Amino acid sequence: MTVGELLEKTARRLAAPELFSEGPLTEARELLAHAFGIVPARLQPEAPVDLHVHDEFLRLLGRRLGDEPTGYIVGAVELMGLRFKVDRRGFIPRLDLPVLIQAALEGVAQDAKGFALDLACGMGAAGICVAHARPGLHVDLADVSAEAIELARENAELVVPGRYQAYAGDLFDPLPRGRKYNVVTANPPWVPDGTVLPSEVIDHEPVVSFFGGPDGLDIVRRIIAELPRWLAPKATYAQECDPSQIEKVIALLTAQGLRETRAHQDGEGVLRVVSARMP
Ligand SMILES: C[S@@+](CC[C@H](N)C(=O)[O-])C[C@H]1O[C@@H](n2cnc3c(N)ncnc32)[C@H](O)[C@@H]1O
Repeated sequence: MTVGELLEKTARRLAAPELFSEGPLTEARELLAHAFGIVPARLQPEAPVDLHVHDEFLRLLGRRLGDEPTGYIVGAVELMGLRFKVDRRGFIPRLDLPVLIQAALEGVAQDAKGFALDLACGMGAAGICVAHARPGLHVDLADVSAEAIELARENAELVVPGRYQAYAGDLFDPLPRGRKYNVVTANPPWVPDGTVLPSEVIDHEPVVSFFGGPDGLDIVRRIIAELPRWLAPKATYAQECDPSQIEKVIALLTAQGLRETRAHQDGEGVLRVVSARMP
């Protein structure tokens, strides 16, 4: 069998609804590349898959079919052309995270100078992508999980060395007093308490990543209440939430004086990100 044939067959298998794959072909490529010991970009569709690689691939696929997330199996995730390290210290960024990143970057000049903040950053992908796209920005990465922050630091060191600082602590608490941010990204916990999550998610990723109180918005409300004092004039804020929470989040931002609120669609046309701007 060739690489192309095996990828096609595996992507069909991973598209089964009970596997909750966000990108069956992306996952198939990650698993097969890992079996070859290369990155997915180096896979050659016409190349044959020898027996040894095929056996290894079936072993990895078996783990995925047993509900282990592909990110943890291969130890990496790729977003906006950048490859990040992931492991059980942090939540695995979802493939639609670029919607949040692009929403945050809209209106931020290519040569912008100053500070970006990724709040509840997990392994840091959003903030690191922002800093990578705007080389004049320094990024602060903050998360309550000291383990996730360790991982964020490792990722930032590889992609934006010398242009980041990583802080462990509750929301804004560990950040330098008086700092004003030009762009803030946040994908905090926003799942309503009691929601049943797939075992692929809840049995593997850090539980601190998910739940945000009865309506899911406890942490979001705390962020938005404090946000204006951290934003520079004209700064952009972008955050992810559930589609059902979009209107509430826009109302919270508007009540805090933010303007130009907008909802952004993911690749499937679902509104998942809200952005706003400081006057
Ligand atoms: C859904 S995960 C998202 C991680 C990352 N932003 C991403 O999209 O990959 C939510 C993150 O919020 C962090 N978190 C939860 N409560 C927090 C708090 N009170 N202060 C800061 N971070 C918090 C978790 O540790 C977790 O990394």
